Formats: sequence, structure tokens, C-alpha cells
Amino acid sequence: MNYHVLTLFPEMIEQGLHTSIIGRAMQKGILSLEAVNIRDFAFNKHQKVDDYPYGGGAGMVMQAEPVYLAYASVCEKIGTKPRVIYLTPQGKVFHQAMARELALEEDLIFLCGHYEGIDERVLEEIVTDYVSIGDYVLTGGELPAMVMIDSISRMVPGVLSNQESGETESFAGNLLEYPQYSRPETWHERKVPEVLLSGHHANVERWRREQSILRTDKWRPDLLKKADLTGKEWAWLHEQRKKQRENSES
Ligand code: ADE
Repeated sequence: MNYHVLTLFPEMIEQGLHTSIIGRAMQKGILSLEAVNIRDFAFNKHQKVDDYPYGGGAGMVMQAEPVYLAYASVCEKIGTKPRVIYLTPQGKVFHQAMARELALEEDLIFLCGHYEGIDERVLEEIVTDYVSIGDYVLTGGELPAMVMIDSISRMVPGVLSNQESGETESFAGNLLEYPQYSRPETWHERKVPEVLLSGHHANVERWRREQSILRTDKWRPDLLKKADLTGKEWAWLHEQRKKQRENSES
């Protein structure tokens, strides 16, 4: 996977993604990352990339031409026209399945906006995907691009070791991950759940599945609606909810 990030702050992208698992994958050559400075494509005296909005109003707008030339330079270099993701709070909200799907691409271009936005005409011409990382407004697209790159990269084959790779991780099957424990067995008078010390593999697996279901029910009931529970598991969950209600009433 080759990432190309069009930005006014290339150092932010370069510094943010070279550590830990993503850094290791870049060293191995499974991933590559290129930050393209849009300002390098502003062919005027002061390398200006923004201007006042037509129609008036607050703030400045990033101009079409430098963004287009930065995009065209990437396409020319790699000889293809990859998908272009524009980071914007107006986009479709990013989720795990989107990360999985984007991980299948060979190249991805991320376009990071600043100021009040980017001239609509260049967006119409080059953007294939409008993506938001959540319903809040950030000062620019760099952090959202980094969030997406981190999440997509985990889904690229070879990036996670076998141990790290998560079939049983949060959002697999629309369930949250079960709780984890490590040594010591007792910490601040809190004990590790007995079943995890039992060495009984099937019981451990069942307990983890149940914990995932309970957690999702408590914290993300919206996800649980989409989770594929068996009829038996739904019945068990209803029973647990009933018990909990009775406990809180007594
Ligand atoms: N740019 C500013 N806020 C954003 C958000 N929430 N998601 C993606 N891009 C953004």
C-alpha cells in the first residue's frame, strides 16, 4: 500500500506515522508514505495557496490550481489515478468495514483541507470519497488522514504479526472486544476472573464471547443490533438483562 498525502503541513504527516507497528511496516516495505506539500505547487511570488471566498464571508479558501497540480504530480509519478479521499466533517463517517475495503487498494491519495475549505471545482474534479472521522470539527484534515492511515494499515496483509492480527478484536462481527488481564493474579484486591486461570479452553472462549456481548449491550447497543448472535445467545442476553434489572431493584 502506498499512501500519498496532499497537505500544507507535510512534517505533521511525516512525524506522526513512523513509529510502532506502522513504522515497522514501512521499514519492511509493506507500506510507503509520501507527504506532498501543496505549497510547492503554488507558482506565485509568495507561494500563496488561499484566497478570499467569492460572495464574501469569514475565512479563506484553498485555491483549486495548487491542489490540482499536487494531485496531478502524484498521478504522473505512479502512472495511475488512485482513489482520492477528501477529509471533511461533511463526509461519510469512517468505520472498520471501510478500513478493510480501502486496504485492498494499491495506492491511496488523501487530500487535507485547511481554512474554510477547498474550492469546490477541484473537489468535483478529483475526489472519489468524502470521509469524516466523526461528528466534530478539527482544524485540518491531517489528523483524520493519520487516523485513517493507521486503521487501514492494520488491515494490509503482513502489517500485523500473527499474534497482533485481530480476528477477535473490537468490531469483528459488530461486537466489542472482551476484557484482558495479565499478571499479577491479584492487583489492588481485584482478582483475575477464575475461568481464565482454569486452563479450560472451551470455557475461556465461551466466557470471552459472553463478555463481548455484555459489553456491547452496555456501551454500544447500536452495534449489538447489527451483531450476529445465535438465538441461544439472544435468549441468554435477555436472561442476563432480566437478572441485572432484578439486582438493581433489590
Ligand atoms: N476536517 C475537519 N474536521 C474533520 C473531521 N471530523 N473528519 C474529517 N475531516 C475533518
